[in-house]
Amino acid sequence: MNDAVLKHLSDKVEVFWLNDKYDTYDQYAGSGFTIDDIQEAEQRLLKFSPLIKRLFPRTEGSGGIIESPVEKIENMQRWLNEIEGQDLKGALYIKRDDILPISGSVKARGGIYEILKYAEELAAESALINEKQSYAQFASERFRALFNRYTIVCASTGNLGLSIGIMSAELGFKVDIHMSVDAKAWKKALLRDYGVNVIEHEDDYSKAVEAGRDEAMKRKDFYFVDDEDSETLFLGYAVSALRLENQLTEAGIEVSSDNPLYVYLPCGVGGAPGGIAFGLKEVFGDNVYPVFAEPVNSPCMLLGVMSGKHDDISVRDIGLDNVTIADGLAVGRPSKFIGRTVEKLVYGFYTVQDASLYEMLAKLWDTEKMKLEPSALAGMTGGYRLQKEQPDMVSGTHLVWSTGGDMVPEDVWQKDYEQGFELLKEQG
Ligand SMILES: Cc1ncc(COP(=O)(O)O)c(C=O)c1O
Repeated sequence: MNDAVLKHLSDKVEVFWLNDKYDTYDQYAGSGFTIDDIQEAEQRLLKFSPLIKRLFPRTEGSGGIIESPVEKIENMQRWLNEIEGQDLKGALYIKRDDILPISGSVKARGGIYEILKYAEELAAESALINEKQSYAQFASERFRALFNRYTIVCASTGNLGLSIGIMSAELGFKVDIHMSVDAKAWKKALLRDYGVNVIEHEDDYSKAVEAGRDEAMKRKDFYFVDDEDSETLFLGYAVSALRLENQLTEAGIEVSSDNPLYVYLPCGVGGAPGGIAFGLKEVFGDNVYPVFAEPVNSPCMLLGVMSGKHDDISVRDIGLDNVTIADGLAVGRPSKFIGRTVEKLVYGFYTVQDASLYEMLAKLWDTEKMKLEPSALAGMTGGYRLQKEQPDMVSGTHLVWSTGGDMVPEDVWQKDYEQGFELLKEQG
């Protein structure tokens, strides 16, 4: 364990840790997953695209594929260069999972995939699938009647609940979502509008997961989506890497050792950034450098990987309270398997103050007219933080993974913006 970094973590001082377990990528060792697993997930999503198109007409334009664009953010980069006092080596891009269709966050990738996979299993067991028809048949009454006999259970800080709740309710499942204390009121209200049973907890995320797991264990007709331990979620997130490869090619960006790809991923329990990082490594190998970002009060993945204790350690064990404005990242104990699976392929980890999230939120609107939620800004300064740590790093493409925002009600977002605006004003 790096004592200086540990002290900074306990003191809630922003810190960057270059992962000493990082290693050259070997596709055939370590993770236990392969590119075939990702491709299988992609094929399943393609099969379901006629259904997605029917249920969510907004996906018509993409043929029922749930995907987000990559955009250059030059104005933001110019401003960041100025306040950071250094020019970023390379161009700054953003991956717009904040506008991912259906539930407006990165959690839609894994959550929706897991529900579709489960629905397919149930339908196959009941010999309900007509192989001559497209999967749009899953929207028909005979499928709904089957799914209505089952309850999907999940625990969430908010966004996974939204993606699981919306998709499950559309298919006809009953849904119980256990929400941690951090979950925003508007996320709970929106789910209730979909007929979802929202169970509110006074405790943090880990306790909400425990409650959900206990509930689901009791009944055979309950299915638990385990955010702390789901390989299906993991592969759903990983599919994004295949799509990103095509998007970068279309944008004329060739990833190579002369133009590496640096990717900055907000991290909560670790499933989304872990799955994406794994997918990226399968696609780009040693030319991609995934970096995870966490709030100063909730650096569970950094702590788990650095200490080697993974889910046997909580941020509370080093005196942190896991309270942050970044609700999606308010996780005190990391996933049971993500840290162990990806510890050799994450280049570095850093922490970020809530105040910085607010400031970035306000400035991204001012410069690029993009509306994100606070958690989604954690990766924004990643390139600058990495460059301070490694001044001789090779110039490359810097991709900030924006992870949520589209569903945030205007008045809620406005308050966050004002907070950021005031903080920026204080600094002149
Ligand atoms: C907006 C946002 N960003 C990032 C994450 C992190 O994902 P994970 O918890 O899988 O690490 C979440 C999780 O809910 C989120 O809501």
